Amino acid sequence: MTRYRIATMPGDGIGPEVMESAVSILEHVSDTGGPGLEFVELHVGDAVKARTGAAMPPGTIQRVAECDAALFAAVGESAKEVILPLRQQLDLYANLRPTKVYPNVPHLREGVDMVIVRENTEGLYKMVGYRGEDWGVNLRIITRRASERIARYAFKLATAEGRERVTSVHKNNALDFTCGVFLEACRDVAEEHPETEYEEMIVDACAMKLVLMPEHFEVLVTTNLFGDILSDEAAGLVGGLGLVPSGNIGERNAIFEPVHGTAPDIAGKGIANPIATILSASMMLDWLGENEASSRIEDATLEVLRRGKPLTADLGGSARTKDVTKAVLESLK
Ligand code: NAI
Ligand code: MG
Repeated sequence: MTRYRIATMPGDGIGPEVMESAVSILEHVSDTGGPGLEFVELHVGDAVKARTGAAMPPGTIQRVAECDAALFAAVGESAKEVILPLRQQLDLYANLRPTKVYPNVPHLREGVDMVIVRENTEGLYKMVGYRGEDWGVNLRIITRRASERIARYAFKLATAEGRERVTSVHKNNALDFTCGVFLEACRDVAEEHPETEYEEMIVDACAMKLVLMPEHFEVLVTTNLFGDILSDEAAGLVGGLGLVPSGNIGERNAIFEPVHGTAPDIAGKGIANPIATILSASMMLDWLGENEASSRIEDATLEVLRRGKPLTADLGGSARTKDVTKAVLESLK
């Protein structure tokens, strides 16, 4: 009784370790009254590149497109050859990074509960540029279409989640050619949503305000590079990369992934924190419309944090990846 085919891309470093954890949680939920899931494992990343010459074997994007959703862990130096083409070619235009304070996890600031909505297909990540001997150019490409669509996504999300304010983050005082297009689109979409407060903030000031008064922010909408940087900064406010999940969302396809990378310093030791990937799996089920299964996973994971053990070293504990996985599985029962 398969209802969903899920592509999994474990990748490199701690990727396979955290993926194994998340898949075992999904399998358990599926076996105990949840939706039927079938996994299609796809190999991408540095190790595949070393073996075959290509970080993403031909046909990979098509196979991801044919699945109902995908879970991605992390790839190393070949990230540019894997996750960027996946996002752009599958048109996964909204990169969603919910950031909130987790129970019992040391955090720098109280009251953080925001969603960063990052444009995911263009800007400085379009990979258009030139390289000379001692100079280089990366073009920043911003279109009305992509700006309008990401602004619409942010306002819809604010309305759906009962969030009162959308903050549009830009650098129009310096990058006016491109940020001008982005801001005009945001302003027009804001007019369609009188129920939501709209404000604009310059990215450097925003970076400071995120540290000084993060509770101010509810939904941030911004261009690709700014969103990348601000979302890592926001992750730092609530306890770090081992916790924060994300989604790359398009009209038809979506890929969910922890915000962190391959963590080469701890890879292969069995001590990576699997929670960011487990919460990404929960976001994936929510996107598929399986809200109950999604909440089950989120609640069980937060319950482990609330109890304060077992925790991995990044959260001050000494547990192994397997111990945390086992604890989440037990709290699911
Ligand atoms: P990173 O996120 O891999 O690691 C940064 C620090 O956080 C390290 O000290 C690491 O041990 C720690 N950390 C990260 N995830 C953790 C987890 N689950 N549990 C415990 N500790 C964790 O970022 P870094 O070091 O900048 O990049 C390493 C590699 O990952 C690079 O090759 C980079 O290209 C790649 N990368 C890939 C991404 C992707 O596939 N989407 C995203 C970010 C980086
Ligand atoms: Mg990043």
